[in-house]
Amino acid sequence: MDSAIPMTQPKTTDSSSARRDTLSVTDNRTGKTYEIPITNDTIRANDLRKIRVDESDFGMMSYDPAFNNTASCISRITFIDGDQGILRYRGYPIEELAEKATYLETAYLLLHGELPTESQLKEWQHHITHHTFIHESIKKFLDGFHYDAHPMGMLISTIAALSTFYPDAKHIFDPESRKKQTYRLIGKMPTIAAFSYRHTLGMPYVYPDNDLSYPGNFLNMLFRTSETRYRPNPTLEKALDILFILHADHEQNCSANTIRGVGSSHVDPFCASAAATAALYGPLHGGANEEALRMLMEIGSVQKVPEFIKRVKAGETRLMGFGHRIYKNYDPRARIIKRIAYEVFDLMGKNPLLEIALECERIALEDDYFVKRKLYPNVDFYTGLIYQSMGFPMTMFPVLFAIPRMSGWVAQWEEMLLDTEQKIARPRQIYLGHDTRSYVPIEQRS
Ligand code: ACO
Repeated sequence: MDSAIPMTQPKTTDSSSARRDTLSVTDNRTGKTYEIPITNDTIRANDLRKIRVDESDFGMMSYDPAFNNTASCISRITFIDGDQGILRYRGYPIEELAEKATYLETAYLLLHGELPTESQLKEWQHHITHHTFIHESIKKFLDGFHYDAHPMGMLISTIAALSTFYPDAKHIFDPESRKKQTYRLIGKMPTIAAFSYRHTLGMPYVYPDNDLSYPGNFLNMLFRTSETRYRPNPTLEKALDILFILHADHEQNCSANTIRGVGSSHVDPFCASAAATAALYGPLHGGANEEALRMLMEIGSVQKVPEFIKRVKAGETRLMGFGHRIYKNYDPRARIIKRIAYEVFDLMGKNPLLEIALECERIALEDDYFVKRKLYPNVDFYTGLIYQSMGFPMTMFPVLFAIPRMSGWVAQWEEMLLDTEQKIARPRQIYLGHDTRSYVPIEQRS
């Protein structure tokens, strides 16, 4: 492990002090003491293996269901400090990127580690834009879905199907091939997403318009009807671009862990990112914004908020869009999203659910129950309101999350592939099942 790499907050070791960066562990079964090196506030699980009762013992393992306290990789992509509410991509605060960058610039940053120069950005945008078209056979493939198929199901299947259209993608250790698949994945996500949406409406597909921006073209493919040339509303285009920036990566979350795990078998990036998209589909991951919106609709009016909060405190239900495994402070993305919400409402008219959301937040931020548990609004509390005002049905919410997350997934996948310490992901288990027993013929079983 490279000891110069910060794993949590950047830290320096004071070489003048006499302290040793080791952990001493005494095994009370044997009375033996072991000294285990500490690097970046971490011990290596494999170092525990030398703790053994005798020669035949396999050695000590660590047990950590759901990876609550296990680092599975070294990463240089995204940094989160959940206590302080900090999120940075490649060192740049999310607030600055949301204010000053575009989504494609951010995607370049995530993938390349540095912000692009003007010519690099131009070239990058050109490549992404020229990979937005999908093969005509993919259209036929999409046509095969039932009219009420969930757009996330269509998205997952179509991303996986791209693997059959681009068999060159299996050359994962060829940098040129990886570059090409990256253009394809980021370029085609909005097209597949928009075609899936149009399919559910029974409307003809709208082909990409290469003169429009990444979010502008997405709006074109979604909403164009009889206009000869679709002109996206600049406020909605900008709002969508910022939402894309905020959702681009979030370090080792469930879907990032999935693309790393599946990709570690060296399958092509289309299959690996289809798996990541499937992980995102789950209600505990990318589906929470829909739940938050449903909750606001269920509350129904500002007057009913105190009664609902009472039910939450009694443990009968949860305040959806509140709380986070990592953030024990205001989710920095939620703060930015709240601002965008007002810009979208100014244009589209205020979402009547906003007052209910604001009242929930006001009460919760003052209430002891939420304060004590450090429950703050997360990214999903306001996004549903914005998406709904922009005209998206709820089934499209996780799709809107998946489109920008593709850049983060590809960055995580590539970092995993190029990390010489990584191997096929294969956790251990603690086996507590039966010991060996003999097969019982069916007629003798009770
Ligand atoms: N409403 C009410 N109480 C809550 C909430 C909530 N939204 N979230 C947590 N709590 C309470 C729990 O009941 C628990 O209380 P207790 O100590 O008295 O038992 C305490 O706060 C800790 O909660 P955990 O469930 O242990 O926290 P965990 O970190 O495991 O869960 C999670 C995080 C799943 C996000 C949770 O806060 C939650 O269910 N929130 C609502 C769903 C949601 O908004 N999910 C989106 C997350 S953001 C994203 O994935 C993109």
